[in-house]
Amino acid sequence: MSETTLKGKAKHNGSSNVILDVRDIYTYFKTESGVVKALDGVSFDIREQESVGIVGESGCGKTVTSRSILRILPKNGEVVAGEIYYRGVNLMDLTEKQMRHVRGKEIALLFQDPLSALNPVLSIREQMVDVIQLHRGVDEEEAANIAIKMMKAVGIPEAEHRIDDYPHQYSGGMRQRILIARALALRPKLLIADEPTTALDVTIQAQVLDIIQRMRKEYGLSLMLITHNLGVVSENTDRIHVFYGGRVVESGPTRAIFKDPHHPYTIALLESIPSFKKGKGKLATIPGSVPQLINPPKGCRFHPRCPYATDICKTRPPMEKIGEDRYVACFHVDTVIADRKNRLAKSSS
Ligand SMILES: Nc1ncnc2c1ncn2[C@@H]1O[C@H](COP(=O)(O)OP(=O)(O)O)[C@@H](O)[C@H]1O
Ligand SMILES: [Mg+2]
Repeated sequence: MSETTLKGKAKHNGSSNVILDVRDIYTYFKTESGVVKALDGVSFDIREQESVGIVGESGCGKTVTSRSILRILPKNGEVVAGEIYYRGVNLMDLTEKQMRHVRGKEIALLFQDPLSALNPVLSIREQMVDVIQLHRGVDEEEAANIAIKMMKAVGIPEAEHRIDDYPHQYSGGMRQRILIARALALRPKLLIADEPTTALDVTIQAQVLDIIQRMRKEYGLSLMLITHNLGVVSENTDRIHVFYGGRVVESGPTRAIFKDPHHPYTIALLESIPSFKKGKGKLATIPGSVPQLINPPKGCRFHPRCPYATDICKTRPPMEKIGEDRYVACFHVDTVIADRKNRLAKSSS
């Protein structure tokens, strides 16, 4: 989609620096055992040039969110309600043809497993040049030059030669670098990275995240970094949206949330990281298990696991603003905050 098409279509006047505004989306899957309500009224936003973390345990709806945004859900899945504004345009209103321009050229997606995103029987050249030609409108030679330049930018040595290698000739970390190079060669404005380093060795993870950050700053991209790893979000994001059971339960600046989490789930999540439990090396676990989403708990989906739960929690808590840029969905937030303050005061005295 050209710049003008996008502008012409923009009807929505949100805050001007918001690039992606996800509003109250519901994504359901039809299965033999019933309807899986994977996303149940998810709202969040991402601003221009901002790095935003989407955090939560496995199964809370992170991947479904990225696939809903790009409209690449499996056949049995559908966004049944809600709006997803990208630069003021509701992606839900676009035709499939328009959506194909958005994918890659406007919003790029990086997957967890770099191997499955590459075709094993095609050389890297073949897998990069066509897409670059298509989206950048350049000839084959120019596309190859862009590919090589991008491969160098992400730290692939001897890119001029290695471009003719096949995926199996690269390590996992190098494959992810190639996918970053390919994605950014199209000059997208938003990069969605879904657990981009989870499949990689720990030592390689930091390098790949560094490259993503470096490229983000260089190209002025917005980043939606999906991860279950709190260490990764604390070092790589400006703001976070905490997911639980297909909803956002808390949003705010990363530093503020790590210092002073407000939702009982966020607190439990942070206390489950060893380094956050001062003096104790033991990994705390959150009692209970993640909700199954065919028959989810009524009201707040965390209430069966929550130490603060009362009857009112069987109704849905609204997302409320409780400070500069800070939002939380919990009826008992005042008690939770006071309680945590007391606990911290006691443990430091
Ligand atoms: N194709 C599908 N059919 C049925 N349920 C699905 C499908 N894909 C995902 N789900 C369900 O949606 C929920 C969210 O999944 P997902 O977004 O993959 O979680 P994660 O946060 O780990 O990325 C899970 O309960 C999952 O079982
Ligand atoms: Mg996932």
